[in-house]
Amino acid sequence: MKIYLQLKRSGQEVNTNIYGQFIELAQNCINGGIYDPESQLSDQDGIRRDVVEKARFLAPPVLRFPGGTVMCQYHWEDAVGPVEKRVRRKNLIWGGELDPSFGTAEFITFCRKIGAEPMLCVNMASGTPEEAGNWVEYCNGTGHTYYADLRRSHGYEEPFQVKYWCIGNESYAEPDIGVHHDVQLYIRDAFEFIKFMKLTDKTIKTIIVGSDSEEWNRSVLDALHSVTDYLSIHHYSSENGKGIYEPFVGGRHLGELIGRVAELIDTYPENVLHFNPWYRFPPRQEKIAIALDEWNIWNFKDDETYGLLERYNWRDALWTACILNLMIASPSIKMANMAQMVNVLAPIITEKDGSWFQTTAYPLMLYRRHMTGERVDVSLQSPVIEDAQEGGISALSASAVLRSDGTLCTAIVNRDFSKDYVVCLDSVPRYGNMICLTGTSPRARCTMEGSCVQQNEMQVELDEILVRRGSIAIISVNNYTTSAF
Ligand code: AHR
Repeated sequence: MKIYLQLKRSGQEVNTNIYGQFIELAQNCINGGIYDPESQLSDQDGIRRDVVEKARFLAPPVLRFPGGTVMCQYHWEDAVGPVEKRVRRKNLIWGGELDPSFGTAEFITFCRKIGAEPMLCVNMASGTPEEAGNWVEYCNGTGHTYYADLRRSHGYEEPFQVKYWCIGNESYAEPDIGVHHDVQLYIRDAFEFIKFMKLTDKTIKTIIVGSDSEEWNRSVLDALHSVTDYLSIHHYSSENGKGIYEPFVGGRHLGELIGRVAELIDTYPENVLHFNPWYRFPPRQEKIAIALDEWNIWNFKDDETYGLLERYNWRDALWTACILNLMIASPSIKMANMAQMVNVLAPIITEKDGSWFQTTAYPLMLYRRHMTGERVDVSLQSPVIEDAQEGGISALSASAVLRSDGTLCTAIVNRDFSKDYVVCLDSVPRYGNMICLTGTSPRARCTMEGSCVQQNEMQVELDEILVRRGSIAIISVNNYTTSAF
């Protein structure tokens, strides 16, 4: 049986910020991971050279910091200026201590080394709107204000130009410390934060907290849609002892959520009219977008690690590719940050003598290299996976882009571990190039000693493409045309 792919140009660019990453002051993501001044592998800034090298392969256009939940206790002034004067506190969220030696300036330095735009998250739980506004001024101030001059006195003459600012993090989560925001309190507080921050720098883009709850999302957008650029949602899939296909069920739920949020966003005007000039900063200038600013597989554990030191298998790499397909296919998503980049729920793992890629890094690198350009809408009638415990999981997931050089790239994931499928792409020319990633088994993992992922490249006939069980394929066609395209 052949599966036919139908392709249609959309005329819209896929926003490359969907390939963003996130780092948090949690366990050894930053301290002892990215930042390790004692290590032989670190450069003059205390940043691990091998991590920089690997991060450049992932090439995140944007990097989010410092949390996550740790944001609830994060006071940015603890971690700027001379290191010996910085304030060290207990890490009340993830255990250990909150090491202030990697603060705002070090984060910016790291972003510059890997070519990412910084994205900062402000503390709404135990911080104030004024503190957040001061952080904006410290980062972006160009005049001779106290905070712009403070940055200069720390050795940074040029502004950091931080464009993306998250207004809190998962503020609906009652167990987190600090002020617990029900939706009305979130709206009231978020507005005050945004006022201080946008009055400080009118050009910044804000990301407000969204959730799985439609009621929350509608309430925050009704009140704040004129002053926010993005609505954040977070998603973690897990296996939960329910079998190898279970995370794909989570991925399907994410797709449904994105669909509902996109529909909700469509009910707000693209342009904000009649914005009260007495706010003294401009309203939102573009259509509201979704920032999926935390996403990954997380098998939570009820112990002191919380399961954050996840070791990913080949199935998790397929899941990652499916989520990338979903993001490429969803015009409402204009920002996404995999949570997280190093050691914690991460594609990059560091050890004392080196570092290595987990399985999930491989689709990230492949997509980052090939899957950018104009979104091409894909439709296909996928069979469902017969072996899956929960029914209705389609075997194939796909997305496509038309690159600026005219190459069509189609990504296909076969997440069925027991069946190969033959896919047909209606095309002139007849041949294309296929890069195929496979793992040695669904539960295979990479280690420092070796990778379980193989990459093969071959020429394929486009009306008969064999997509093997448990594989990720990217098919490139130069000068693609078809009557329907
Ligand atoms: O990424 C780990 C945690 O997951 C983040 O700190 C939090 O925002 C989310 O719940």
